[in-house]
Amino acid sequence: MSRPPVYLKQNVVAEPLHNQWYAWWFLASPMTAPLFVANLHVKIMESFVANPAIHVAALKSPALRGGPYLNCGVERVGEVKALLERTLQEESLAMRYAAAMRELDALLASAEGYSLEELYPRVPDLLRGYVELTYDLRNRASARFFEPLLYRSPFHRESSQSVSLRLVHGDARPYVFSTPRLDDSREGDLQVRLPFRHEAWDTLFAMRRTPAPLEAVRDALGIAPQDGDTFATFFTPEPPRPAPRYDGDGVRVRYFGHACVLIESRHVSVLTDPVVSYDFPTDLPRFTFADLPERIDYVLLTHGHADHLMFEPLLQLRHRIGTVVVPAGGGGALVDPSLKLMLQHAGFRNVVTLSELESLPVPGGELVGLPFLGEHGDLDVRGKLAHLVRLEGKALLMAADSNALEPRLYEHVQPHVGPIDMMWLGMESEGGPLSWMYGPLLPAPLSRKMDQSRRLNGSNAARAIDIVQRLKPRQVRIYAMGREPWLGHVMVMGYHEQSPQLVESRKLLAHCREHGVDADMPYGQAESFLR
Ligand SMILES: [Fe+2]
Ligand SMILES: [Fe+2]
Repeated sequence: MSRPPVYLKQNVVAEPLHNQWYAWWFLASPMTAPLFVANLHVKIMESFVANPAIHVAALKSPALRGGPYLNCGVERVGEVKALLERTLQEESLAMRYAAAMRELDALLASAEGYSLEELYPRVPDLLRGYVELTYDLRNRASARFFEPLLYRSPFHRESSQSVSLRLVHGDARPYVFSTPRLDDSREGDLQVRLPFRHEAWDTLFAMRRTPAPLEAVRDALGIAPQDGDTFATFFTPEPPRPAPRYDGDGVRVRYFGHACVLIESRHVSVLTDPVVSYDFPTDLPRFTFADLPERIDYVLLTHGHADHLMFEPLLQLRHRIGTVVVPAGGGGALVDPSLKLMLQHAGFRNVVTLSELESLPVPGGELVGLPFLGEHGDLDVRGKLAHLVRLEGKALLMAADSNALEPRLYEHVQPHVGPIDMMWLGMESEGGPLSWMYGPLLPAPLSRKMDQSRRLNGSNAARAIDIVQRLKPRQVRIYAMGREPWLGHVMVMGYHEQSPQLVESRKLLAHCREHGVDADMPYGQAESFLR
């Protein structure tokens, strides 16, 4: 006799992993992943194994949180050593790739402006046929990768992918970029080794709303018999609360936290930069996975940074997303992996790119790509885009972490976009140094002074005011500040009242209010209507 169908509990966390490390942008592309494995993960693990006490001591200092310190107790050194050894063995190709990239860089540095033809046979053997060598107009040589070919090569290692499942009862989660997820099966953690693109993930996550037999999904995911009891704890006969589609006039706008905003009309639902809280009893009100509609017609991504392109919620929503809209970018530059390719290879069937000033018609309106200036340490990253969402005669600008380094950009943009009803802008005006995110890609470290000057920072008050004065939005919302506690695993913000980001934000709010512009900085949860 088969048992009644069950739902996936709303507080089951699903963390996509790559060699046990939290999977994000640079780990998704085979062009960049080997460099993060070799130049970051292996180095952190080697350092921890050699002297775990240094890591434990460093993490007692709040200033060093977010640094390259592995966050687990000395007693787990054996497990980290085992993971290090396994990584060196299974990822030997990544280690060779990293070495070949150093050789390639030296070769390119030797080019003096003469034809690059003779350099092709001297490209490290491992990389031959995967790169085109080019000069910029100042005779600086660089390599452009044929990234789609790398996805079809041994460098793309789906066998490194897994998803860690477990129940949570609060927001607190350890910071993930300097610590691998070790085996915590005694605490109810289950790591399922199945590539992200596998359809069984859709079967599992559809069960958040639609009940199905436990046995079917258990078999589809290949759960081992000894893990069956843990797996069963993830399910419940209780249905989730209903989450009907918006059926009113105009546009309903719901803030889900950070840069995640659900924009709905009667005809279409649009979700930006999904970062979604799990659902459990809490004193901090928020919308959660349980509040997302059954069908999300469009997901808009602004850029690849880990707090914007987050595989964790995307994978869980994949079965209900119609189209993912990403910035075009790509082009084979090491610093700019294609967001389209990484999502397609993670099982997203309908991924479309949008370029600056390009428009995509949607029911009752259109999506328009707008320039996204700065916030990438002056690196030539094209995979970034602000989104103009026009629905039911209303216009919302989702500007993400745009830094108005040149306010005249917005003078040029304004006639094209016309009146804006609501502008959402990030004001993480400090940002980390370039090396914090891009360090493992650099052939040689930057000087500390340069590194500190090249920040991944969004607009401060003066620059945000520059945008407001030029685009004249009727309403302003500050978002993408990393303030919600469900961001703690990817961002170390630790704000206090006098944090420069909050001081700058308050200045913008005051300016807007003085000039009759409705302005707010939502926290946790917010809802408004444009009619
Ligand atoms: Fe960013
Ligand atoms: Fe951000």
